[in-house]
Amino acid sequence: MMDTASRSIGKELLRASGLVRRFGGLVAVNEVSLNVTHREIVGLIGPNGAGKTSLFNILSGQLGPDSGNVSFAGQDITGASASVCARAGIGRTFQIVKPLVSLTVHENVTVGALLNYPLATAREKAEEIIGRVGMRSLLDQQAGSLTLESRKRLELARALSIEPRMLLLDEILAGLNASEINESIHLIRSFAHQDGLAVIMIEHNLHAVMSLADKVIVLDYGRKIAEGKPEVVVRDPAVVAAYLGSDD
Ligand SMILES: Nc1ncnc2c1ncn2[C@@H]1O[C@H](COP(=O)(O)OP(=O)(O)OP(=O)(O)O)[C@@H](O)[C@H]1O
Ligand SMILES: [Mg+2]
Repeated sequence: MMDTASRSIGKELLRASGLVRRFGGLVAVNEVSLNVTHREIVGLIGPNGAGKTSLFNILSGQLGPDSGNVSFAGQDITGASASVCARAGIGRTFQIVKPLVSLTVHENVTVGALLNYPLATAREKAEEIIGRVGMRSLLDQQAGSLTLESRKRLELARALSIEPRMLLLDEILAGLNASEINESIHLIRSFAHQDGLAVIMIEHNLHAVMSLADKVIVLDYGRKIAEGKPEVVVRDPAVVAAYLGSDD
């Protein structure tokens, strides 16, 4: 079972302040600030279109913010490129999984490991990670021929391949069945508790968020409308109203 109480959550790893990102007249991310410490699991929730993926895109260098700033492990990474963010230790998955379809599972993960290692070592590291996410039997399978569940695991393995200090997981449980979800919950917990990674997970599955997260942040129309312990946040009237007002 979860044992967050006896687990020391470390010092600050990520500090984002006043992040704003506009698309034309739409403010997709509106004055969002958040702090994440080492080993912390943060649930990022909110209705469709709330700005969750856009916030990830800013934190991982896919999008520059219009204003605000981001520091990670003491380094200012505001507006830095995706490769700089990866080198700093931010690994992410994509909501729309995008493996290199013509490459094998092993090759897909090796590509990420090449960030830190020469080819032979990268291949070994990749194999370890693939085992960790339970895909060893699929090592030589072409990514394009995988089931959705396996593509999601591959996405996770690719995020881990850069040996991140923080993992950003964008709806990695969507489309999985109950037992696959439970396996993934155990895996995510082990990343934080055994490997010491910080995790921010965007997730519509509230059961998973409630069982994993040390802290939950709620976005609605780009703004942070609540932050705190999961059991408190889900009872917050503003959060309930945001969900009742959505299509979810
Ligand atoms: N590249 C873009 N260009 C224009 N608008 C965008 C772009 N990316 C996102 N948006 C808009 O910004 C808003 C926030 O989108 P975002 O994908 O961040 O939401 P989300 O919370 O991840 O939603 P979902 O739960 O559906 O994945 C939406 O209105 C979306 O249409
Ligand atoms: Mg999204």
